[in-house]
Amino acid sequence: MKGKKKIYILLAFLAIFCVTLTACGKKDADNSVKDIKDKKTLVMGTSADYPPFEFPIVQDGKKKVVGYDVFIAQKIADKLGVKLKVVNTEFPSLVSELKNNKVDIVMAGMVSTKERKKQVGFSDSYFEVQNQALVKKGEANKYKQKGTDFKNKTVGVQQTTTQETIAKKQMKGANVVSESKVPSLTTELKKGKLDAVVVENTVAADYVKKFPNDYEIAPAKLDTPKDLQNINIATRKSDKKLDKKINKILAGLKKSGELDKMLDKAQTLQSEKE
Ligand code: ARG
Repeated sequence: MKGKKKIYILLAFLAIFCVTLTACGKKDADNSVKDIKDKKTLVMGTSADYPPFEFPIVQDGKKKVVGYDVFIAQKIADKLGVKLKVVNTEFPSLVSELKNNKVDIVMAGMVSTKERKKQVGFSDSYFEVQNQALVKKGEANKYKQKGTDFKNKTVGVQQTTTQETIAKKQMKGANVVSESKVPSLTTELKKGKLDAVVVENTVAADYVKKFPNDYEIAPAKLDTPKDLQNINIATRKSDKKLDKKINKILAGLKKSGELDKMLDKAQTLQSEKE
């Protein structure tokens, strides 16, 4: 009897040990792709204030977020055989939304900076950018040198972006104002409350094309260091399988020329928008 008891106790311990082991194993397992397939939805976090990457339009009386990033995300969802859900929040909170499992991926014209790389994973790059200063129509000639011509000027940037870093470092003596949304910055520029707004070249070009009487691009050359040039898709660091899958899809879209077409489509939609 005594010996039997010992065996029972041993077996009980063994059982607990196994359960703990599988539970831990499960937690560590990368189910990132499977989870998305199971819930039949890919959730993309974005900040729809950055044409042509993401911006709202009204279609059939309904507000909808479209843009280059959204079209790419839709392709990824299609390839995974799931629906795409776009969650629109402010840019500064996107990384934490991803880390807190509120979204599966972040696509927001987001550069894979060193700081962000410490917190989340990034796909291969699908677009490269440079930075420019958008100014009021007729004033571009005042801004030829980044180091001197913005002195005592008020320069708007989106909070927590690479533009904030660049403006603070390079526009000597400027009063840099950070806000959470790009359209408020461009409206303030138009009204003369700001003297310049730093955005990426693709975004600047879209604003000038759509509002040629309001804005132009300053000739002052801003430096965009190599590590602030690449736009990528962010995933959680644990979601390696999803990242791998995304890279494969991106490579296919690049090769087939679909990426370029999606950018064209986004730019056309933006310029036709009311
Ligand atoms: N590319 C810049 C960055 O990564 C700005 C991105 C802003 N994106 C947006 N959807 N507002 O910091």
